[in-house]
This record gives sequence, C-alpha cells and structure tokens, in this order.
Amino acid sequence: GTYTETFRPQFHYTPAKNWMNDPNGLVYYGGKYHLFYQYNPNGMTWGDMSWGHAVSTDTVHWTEMPIALNVEKYAPGQVTQMFWSGSAVVDSNNTSGLGTTTNPPMVAIYTSYYPQALTLANGTSVQAGTQAQSIAYSLDQGTTWTQYSGDPIIQLPPSPYQDQFQNFRDPKVFWYAPEKKWVMVAALAALHKVVLYSSKDLKQWTFMSEFGPANESIGAWECPDLFPLPVDGNTSNIKWVLVVNINPGSITAGSGAQYFLGQFDDTQFVADANNVYDSLPPAGSTVFQNFEGSSYSALGWTATGALAGQAPARETIPGMEGNQLADTYGTGDSSVSTLTSPPFTITTSYINFLVSGGYHPYDPATYGTSMDTETAVNLLINGKVVQSTTGSNGIELVWRSWDVSGYNGQVAQIQIVDNNTGTTGWGHILVDDIVFSDVSKQEANWIDYGPDFYAVNSWNGLSGGRRLSIGWMNNWNYANTIPTTPWRSAMSVPREFALKTINSQVRLVQRPVADLLGLRGSSIYTQTTNTSLFSSNMVVPVDNTKGEALDISTKFKPGTASQFGMKVRVGANGEETVVGYDVKTHTVFVDRSKSGQINFDPTFTGRYSAPLLPSVDGSIALRVLVDWSSVEVFGGSGEAVLTSQIFPAPTSDGVAVFANGGTAVLQSINISSMNSSWP
Ligand code: FRU
Repeated sequence: GTYTETFRPQFHYTPAKNWMNDPNGLVYYGGKYHLFYQYNPNGMTWGDMSWGHAVSTDTVHWTEMPIALNVEKYAPGQVTQMFWSGSAVVDSNNTSGLGTTTNPPMVAIYTSYYPQALTLANGTSVQAGTQAQSIAYSLDQGTTWTQYSGDPIIQLPPSPYQDQFQNFRDPKVFWYAPEKKWVMVAALAALHKVVLYSSKDLKQWTFMSEFGPANESIGAWECPDLFPLPVDGNTSNIKWVLVVNINPGSITAGSGAQYFLGQFDDTQFVADANNVYDSLPPAGSTVFQNFEGSSYSALGWTATGALAGQAPARETIPGMEGNQLADTYGTGDSSVSTLTSPPFTITTSYINFLVSGGYHPYDPATYGTSMDTETAVNLLINGKVVQSTTGSNGIELVWRSWDVSGYNGQVAQIQIVDNNTGTTGWGHILVDDIVFSDVSKQEANWIDYGPDFYAVNSWNGLSGGRRLSIGWMNNWNYANTIPTTPWRSAMSVPREFALKTINSQVRLVQRPVADLLGLRGSSIYTQTTNTSLFSSNMVVPVDNTKGEALDISTKFKPGTASQFGMKVRVGANGEETVVGYDVKTHTVFVDRSKSGQINFDPTFTGRYSAPLLPSVDGSIALRVLVDWSSVEVFGGSGEAVLTSQIFPAPTSDGVAVFANGGTAVLQSINISSMNSSWP
C-alpha cells in the first residue's frame, strides 16, 4: 500500500510496521534483489529477532514478503532461538546438496542466538547466550525456509577464542571462484577481530585466518563484509575491501562503519600498510607526555579521588607499544578520580593520543569486557572542558585527534577522568603517549561520516564486478526511541561502491544506485549560470522550491565565505537542516540541531562532518537526497558521505542556499522532487 504517516520514508525501504535493524541476506537471483533484515514481528523495539524479507526488481520499489525466519519460542516470552544477522547465497552448483542443480537452493547463513541453555532436536547442546552460525535453505526463491538439520554449522569460535561463544556473529559468505570454495567472514565482536573460514559445501567449515584489532577497535565489531573492487576501474589492479561495522564508538560516537583496503590471498586478509593507523604516531609529531616507565606524579600530573596517593598500575596491551599508560580507576564506590597534567601552552594544530577505555581494557579475557562508559579524556582551558573524548563499552584502541588550532597560544591542561558514579565495578581509561603535531591523526577509513549508517553490507550474485551495498539508517544510541510509528527504522538508499584514487590515495567512493533517478519527478529548479552569494550570513530561499522529498545536485566554488551550502526542510517554525561546506577545515557538514524533533535522546542533536578537498577545478559538488525523515549527502566523487535522520514537521519543506561571512559562488543547482516508491 501507500504510506503517508508523518516521517514515513517515501523512497527508503521500511517494513509496513514494527522494528527493523540490519540488512541481511542480500542476494540477487532470477532478476530479483532480495533484502532480508533483522525484524521484530511482535513490536516496535528490538526483540524476537527474525528475518523479514522484501524483494525488488530495481532496488527502489520494494514488495514486503512473508517473514522468512521466525523467532522460536517454547512458550510466550521464552525464546529458544533468534535469527541474527547474516548473509545469503545461491548455491548454483548445489554444493550443499540441499536442492538440485535445476532448482538450486538459496542458502542463508546467519547467527543463531540461543538465550538459554538448550538441547537441540539433533542432540546438540548449546550453552546459554550462545551465538553460533547456522544455515537454512529455500527452494522457492527465498519465500519459505527450512533450517538445516545439522545446525549450528559452527558452534564455537576457533581456538583459542572459544570462550567468545557469546560474541561470535554476523557471518558473511561469498563464492570465491579462484579456489572454488565458499568463504565466510564473521565477527568476534568483543575482541575486535574478524575470522575467516572456508567450505566446499556450506556445511563443513574450516578456520583459515583472523584479522584485527586494527584502527578503530572500539565497542563491538559487527557485521563484517569482504569483497574485491578494481582501483579506478582497472580490473588488473584489484584491492579487497574489508568492511567492519562498529558500535558504539564510531566517528559519531555511536554506530558506524570503517573499511580496510588490502589483499585476500585465498586464506587471509592482509591490510595495506598505509591502511593501518594504530601504531604510527602522526608524521612530524612531538611527544608531549611519555608515560613510559614513569608515574604520573613524577611527570607533574596531579590526582584526585580514589587515585590520589596511588601508584598508577603499569599495563601493557597490544597496540599500545608496551608504553606505560595512565591508568585511572575508582574503587567501585561511586568515586570520581582525575589525573590532570601540568599547564602547557598550545602551539600546535592537533593533540593526538591513543586511548583505551572500559571495565578492564587490557585483559578482557580474565575480567570481561562489560564496562564503564563514564571515563573521559578532556582538554581544559581556564579549567573549562573545551574538548572531550569519552570511553566506551569494552576495549577500544584508537588514535584520537583534537583540532586545537583555535586555542593557539592559550594555556591548557589535559585531564583524564574516571567517573565511577553509579557503577559497581572499576572503570579504566588508559592513555598512551600524548603527542602534539600539525597533522591530524587518522583513526580509520570511514564509509559514512553521518550518524545513521550502520550494519552496511553488499549484495551477492551481481554480475560484472558490481558492488551494491545498503545500510541500516539508524544508530543504536537512539534507535529504539526515534519518533516513528507504526514502524521503526528505514534502510539507506542502495549505493554503488567503487575505489577511486583521490589526491594519490585510494578511497572507497559511493553514489546512490542509478535506478533512483527513475523516481525523480519534474525538475523544480535549475540554474547553471554562476550566482554569487555575496553578503555576510546571507540566506537565499530557492525560488518556489518546496519539498519533503528531493534530489538536489549542486556545485559551489569557495570564495571568502567561511561556510556555504544549503538548508533543507526549512520551516517557518525555525526548523532547518544545514548541509554545508566549511572552508577552513575542508569538511562537508550536516547540522541537525534545529532539524525538528531532537529531544527523544540527548545524543541525537548535533553536527557531523566529513573531510573533503575541493576537486581539481576548485569546486565542491554536493548531492543531497532529502526524504520525509532523512538526509543523505554525497560530497565530491562520493568520498565524503553523511547519512542523517531528521524528524521535521511536514510543513518544513523549504530550500535555501547560504554563505556565511563572505562570498561563495553557486555554480549550478538542480532540484528535483522525488516521487514515492510505494506502489
Ligand atoms: C548489529 C547487531 C548484530 C546482530 C544483530 C542482532 O546491529 O547487533 O551484530 O547480529 O544486530 O539484531
């Protein structure tokens, strides 16, 4: 049917009703794209996880299908098996024997989550909380499914990680033609590892290799993906892309996705050296504070709270190069401990540090990774916090960069805070050497710099090396409370992935699937002659342009303005979502702090930015897809992408262009309305 409820996306997939999270089982078969997804058939928040299903011939118009895999319970409220995230393949050669070569089985490979200890029908006993890998097959194009009698097909993680059976999930399987085998990549979520297996028949799996922790090793690693792509379209220069979704602790603090470029040598993924950032201090950096072999007091730091008078523990964790770490911990008694550096004058553009936070970050095997988020590294100026990086669940191991160019010449202090208030355990934040430099320290390669693009995964079964991906357009920080009803969560638009050399660096770039152009209505406004936006803080409404669903393409040329760009979903009530370019920091940004409803969660409001240098002709190209409750921004050649939910009033439908504090040139703009993809 056609859906017109407030906030109902018009060209993004949503189920008619109830909760949805990750895309699952993305596979193209017989002219149809299949989109399975994490689905709660019984409610509007996460629970009773099942596989929902939708099909499309063009990835734009979707038809919702019956539930593919339905949560199993022995009594109401007593779940025996949930169907968590995974993938699907078409077993054309019937390697599994689960179909025939004339009617090959579609096979889903997913995580069986068993909340309680259980003896399965085949006699296998599983422990409470097990996340094991299972398969099911369909002989009718994905409509009805049968679980394989030998499930789970991988019950425990590979040794020596078998104790991680409660954090082992999200298998992505693909056919690897050079060796005529199936390859699986799955996550050991808490260890920040992915593990690779191979199989000849989808039933018997052999452990091959592991990868990680590397780069952003924070929160949980989930929903990995692995695929080859040509660099700049050159099929004799292939790189493999390893996608790792992270929650919490990504670039926007909550859910996000990073990628690594490298090679897959039939057995293991090896990241290119220039794609691994953990152990490299930024080039040209000066160590400000070396914790190696020193106590905090010997370094002139002062302590308060439970830490005062205590010698800091000396810990070593992999990736922290064996340096002595500042280790703050409370005693589990609602205490707040701080470590504060001596005052210093800021003379550089960046302060970088490697940080690890959590319950017991350096020894999760012994102490578990459950956690304490109440830890932070702060930058103080005049005793006031001006920059802050907070810890997160479990271990994290990541370079953090603060841009402090705005504070040059000012006297500052660095403070490490452990706030145990309200927790019963210890909390730690470990900080490695603090370094000053003129360059920011890259933490990771981010796929999307916005807050609402998670669990991204790509379709199996496409020809011609095509790599089409889709993400869940939400964030675990607030996913369960976004103000929509009777459904909750949408998918992003499907996106074509490619690798492109930009400023001599190979980058993952993406653009909305071309079929989306078919939804474009009439062009509401077009202008191809240069227009100067000249006055300070000038905002120009685009003539007669209104729309809750729009596809906007623009090209700007920077002038003297510090920022320029456009505003969408502008309302008389003061609502606006700003999509702009910041000239000084070379970033595209989305500001949703006045976008509409924001109060349902304290982490929802905010401004998000992605690095983007002007193209060779000096211009900044932005394509913006606006829907009833989202904005997706594709900057440059698709290397700077930001996906953001917004919840504006339906009457907030204006569009404007703006320049702040000087000039900018609007070189071209085309605004089209977007038709509904509902039938
Ligand atoms: C990611 C995730 C997966 C898991 C699924 C459960 O969003 O946590 O790791 O399989 O959701 O719904």
